[in-house]
Amino acid sequence: MINGGRRLCGEVDISGAKNAAVAILPAALLTKGRCRIENVPDIKDVNHILEIMRQLGATYEKIDRNTIEIDGSGVKQWVAEYEIVKRMRASYYLVGALLGRFKKAKVAMPGGCNFGERPIDQHTKGFEALGAKVSLQQGMFDLEAEKLCGNAIYMDVVSVGATINIMIAAVLAEGLTVIENAAKEPHVVDVANFLNSMGANIKGAGTDVIRIMGVEELGSCTYALIPDQIEAGTFMMAAAASGGDVLVKNVIPKHLDAISAKLVEMGVEIEEYDDAIRVKRSGVLHKANVKTLPYPGFPTDLQPIVVTLLTTAEGTSMVNEGVWENRFQYVDELRRLGANISVSGRTAVIEGVSKLMGAYVKATDLRAGAAMIIAALMAEGTTRITNIQYIDRGYEHVEEKFGKLGADIKREKMEDEEC
Ligand code: UD1
Repeated sequence: MINGGRRLCGEVDISGAKNAAVAILPAALLTKGRCRIENVPDIKDVNHILEIMRQLGATYEKIDRNTIEIDGSGVKQWVAEYEIVKRMRASYYLVGALLGRFKKAKVAMPGGCNFGERPIDQHTKGFEALGAKVSLQQGMFDLEAEKLCGNAIYMDVVSVGATINIMIAAVLAEGLTVIENAAKEPHVVDVANFLNSMGANIKGAGTDVIRIMGVEELGSCTYALIPDQIEAGTFMMAAAASGGDVLVKNVIPKHLDAISAKLVEMGVEIEEYDDAIRVKRSGVLHKANVKTLPYPGFPTDLQPIVVTLLTTAEGTSMVNEGVWENRFQYVDELRRLGANISVSGRTAVIEGVSKLMGAYVKATDLRAGAAMIIAALMAEGTTRITNIQYIDRGYEHVEEKFGKLGADIKREKMEDEEC
């Protein structure tokens, strides 16, 4: 429940990156050593992946709220059934990790957020190039290789998941793997840095071409995750949406360039520090056009949030979704709050309105859920958001963080909550 209209002011600490965590935790299974991972966000997706790893035979210890030590020495099996992976799309990283370690893997097809078709052909292409026989039977991704051998792999589309998955599988392959047209997202670099700290030999992560020279084995390490680019962007836009003044701390400002640039275009003041960004808005919001693209472009995961922000900007804005084919399902919910948005294919046209009004809405997926929080903060009156289990997948203690900035937000248990 959110009572809107409050300015957000103060400081917020950004957690570790969810999308790095859900890859790095399973990648820790590549070694029989112990991996101590710091700055891990305390979110449902992390708990879920840890539970899957435990069921595979790994043990872990929570040293504190954000530090986890993983011991994968007890993992003896490479099969992850549908029942344990169904709610988590990123469980596909288990495929790369188990294939790398055991040269075989059998993992049920992923669930996760649904915004259109989510093919895995580029993952398959990469694993096959490394020498695995791949089949898809009764919803299980089934792979086996006598041995994995390095190869040149050209990605037909820029895929974060496929780039990371192939990198994870290739670190223990024989010889050199070259991934061309690789994704350059900050968490791709983070996974490469983590693997290198275990003893892998990966060069070029963060550019279009990644070179992985296989090594015989990997060992223990201590590694701290990068801050979450999307959580940081969410709070930056929330500050702008509420006409507030917020210092967003524990960030890498470079990862936020596309977001800062768009906010400046909208009339928002941005001040950059070494590891923080101050976001302040006192005037009206200007219209803007946005196209989502792979990094370093504007991130698709912030698309629902920037559309929300633009609902009360002066004039007509256009937002084009350049990554997913169907990521505007949440627009109906914004309309319930009074937004004037029309969608045609992958483009949303937003006519700025003077204000939003509180209503009952639901989170249709993780980032759309965050967009609902921001819309509710902007709206006059009370907004009730249901299906917040989606938000808990990826945002750490969300109501605490917004509450500390002055939002009037509380979590209520609803009898009639949809699942
Ligand atoms: C990751 C993020 C997700 C984000 C997305 C794009 C995680 C856990 N999730 O998802 O939040 O929205 O990156 O930044 O990190 N594609 C293919 N074939 C494939 C794989 C992908 O055609 O084998 C296409 C997809 O349909 C999509 C595009 O490539 O159009 C990008 O997908 P990808 O980068 O793989 O997204 P994910 O890794 O699933």
